[in-house]
This record gives sequence, C-alpha cells and structure tokens, in this order.
Amino acid sequence: MLHQSLPSWTYTSEEYFCLEAEVLFKRSWQLVCHLNDIPDVGDYFTLPFLGQNIFVIKTKDGGVNGFHNVCRHRAARLLDGDQGNAKAGLVCPYHAWCYNLDGALTGVPRSHSLKDMDRSQYGLKPVEVEVWQGFIFIRMVNDGGPSVAEQFVECMRDIAPHQFENLQPLGRVTMRPRDVNWKQVADNYVDALHIPVAHPGLNSLFNGTYGVHIKGDVHIMYGDLETSVRDSVSGRAYKKFLPDGGHLPESLKRKWIYFRMWPNLAFDVYPDQVDFMQFIPISATQTMIREIPYALMDDRREMRAARYLNWRVNRQVNAEDTDLINRVQDGMASISYDQGPLSDEETLLIDSANRTRQQLPIVNEVVKPSRDTLLGLIEKEERYNKYGKSV
Ligand code: FES
Ligand SMILES: [Fe+2]
Repeated sequence: MLHQSLPSWTYTSEEYFCLEAEVLFKRSWQLVCHLNDIPDVGDYFTLPFLGQNIFVIKTKDGGVNGFHNVCRHRAARLLDGDQGNAKAGLVCPYHAWCYNLDGALTGVPRSHSLKDMDRSQYGLKPVEVEVWQGFIFIRMVNDGGPSVAEQFVECMRDIAPHQFENLQPLGRVTMRPRDVNWKQVADNYVDALHIPVAHPGLNSLFNGTYGVHIKGDVHIMYGDLETSVRDSVSGRAYKKFLPDGGHLPESLKRKWIYFRMWPNLAFDVYPDQVDFMQFIPISATQTMIREIPYALMDDRREMRAARYLNWRVNRQVNAEDTDLINRVQDGMASISYDQGPLSDEETLLIDSANRTRQQLPIVNEVVKPSRDTLLGLIEKEERYNKYGKSV
C-alpha cells in the first residue's frame, strides 16, 4: 500500500488549526522549563500557549504547582514576563486578591462586601503537572493520554546516562518565528531523507551514519560523530575539541540523538549539552520555535569550545531548514497540490500522519471540508475541553 501524506489543506486552514489546538495541543503535555530554572521557593516560569496563560511555581515543600495565570475575580492575568519570584504570594494587579503558592485564595480586600463567597471555591485553577527527569510539563486537559514518563520509558537506556535531572540552564532562550504551519517544522525535524541532500555539513558530521527509528511513542533520529574528509570547519573543530564525557558510556560519547515527543516537542541530546525545541503553534501559517539549552556543570575550556561549535553547526542547519520549510509551506498553498506519497523509508512521517488520522479522522478527507463542518467539530471539542464530558 502506498502511504500518503496529510492533505495540504491541513497546513493552511485556520479552522483546522483551531481544531488541532483543541484536540492535539490542549490535551498534550507541554514543557515549561526545568526544575533548575526555578530553584527557590516562589520562583515561577510562565508559558503562554494558544491563548492560554499557564505558570508553574516552586512551593514551600520543594514541589511544583501549575496554574492558569488567571485571577478568579475578573480574570486579570496575574503574573507577567517569562519568569520571576512570588515567594510572598501572588497579588492580582487589578483589585489585589491574594493567592498563596498552593493557589488558595488568601486575601480579598473589602471582603465584607462579598459575605456569601466561600473563599475555598475561588483558588487558582490548577493544571496537571508532571516532572520527568527534572523537566516540568503541564497538561491543560487530561483525556487519558499517557504520561511523559510512559512515553519515554523505552528510551531511558539512552537518556538516563545524560542525567537530565542535573542539567543547568545555559542562560539562553531562543525564540525563532517561522512563517509556516507547525507541522512543517515537526515534519522536517523527523524527515530522514533530506539530511544527505540538504545538510552537507550535518551529513559529513555523521559521515553517513544517520538513522531513524520509533521506540514506543517517541521518534528517534541519531548520528555518530565519525571522521569525514568533507567536514566543515566548525564540524571538524567540534569533533577535535569535544572532550571525553566521563559520565557517558562509550556508545553515547560521540553520538547525537534527537527525540521527538508527540506532537510538538523535541530533545536534542548531545554529549556536550541537551536542548529542547518546542514548536509553538501561533496560527495556521505561523510557528514560534522555542529553544532552551541545558548542560551539566563542566567548565573545561574544550567543553566550552565544543558547545560553541555545536551551536555554529546547528545555526547552519537551522538556516538550511528554514529555507526548506518555507518552500514546502508555499507549495501547500498551491492549487496544484493535494497530497504526496511517502516512501517506506519515511517511517516517522508515516507515523506522524497516522497519529493525526487517529486523533482527527477529518484529515482523511483529501478535499477540504466545508467551513461549517470544521466549525461544528471545533465547537464540540471546545465544549469538551472547557466543561468536560458531561456537556
Ligand atoms: S481581577 Fe484580580 S482582583 Fe480583580
Ligand atoms: Fe533539516
């Protein structure tokens, strides 16, 4: 059977984008930050995502809570900026309602005028939080999907030695806007066949050892750092300077591994650092790539050089990928294109398309459904996310 990609309308339709927001994104785990980004009591990190504002905060007992960043009085946003500290509690900037780090409503000015209000009913609305290997994830709606740990369970042999829980932020947050649908970025990330064609530097870095496979729920791409006569200047220098990662087994010391978690997260795991890339959907044709690098404490000069050279290699790869995804997004809008065949070697693209078909059967329609059909579906899913099964 010839496999087919998703139809092109799923990459351009604003209505379909809203449907994905409800079905794929509000019900999936989203990475906010690492425990070491919020080391102190009251430290918080915010995540604006698809019109929803969420934050996670370190509690007095060392745990992490996650809440909607929305006051229960008149819905004002409570916290601003990417991160900060609210050790003394959260005070709404509008009418000064106060909440503690557990989200309980602790103070209401002029409370005599709200005599009948039961304060215990007006704590901040929580979101589900999972801390996996030091990384903090939130999920807005639980529809029974697997935990992060369950999704990665088969990958732990390659992940555990990298000691994710000990990673420290390198202090760089990169936000890269792209004028493409989020699926272009995600598809391209797991597209195995373009590496030898479009990334000469990366290809020679791996000297042709690039491979892909699926473990449980996770897509995996990898390559070994083997000497190549065609290495770029940065690639050659990276291989030369990369010091021995004493904490890693031989098989991982000179291996780059990419893990893609459905739907929009990737961990780039290198011997010198680990970063996550989150493809934040903005609209049908806009995506923000949010990338934050982390590393184990290691101040050796050659390690610092390796990290810099890694960044240089990847900057080139990013520029090449940006050109590619723009080309594809343009093509998706063409009246000449509906969908295209996927080869048996494009296993991760086939799996991505199949997962989407399972969650959103409407994508089986090659011809774009009517606006009313899509609006009807959105309404149903919105209602489910907001009010639950009962409505
Ligand atoms: S909206 Fe927050 S106190 Fe009124
Ligand atoms: Fe690429």
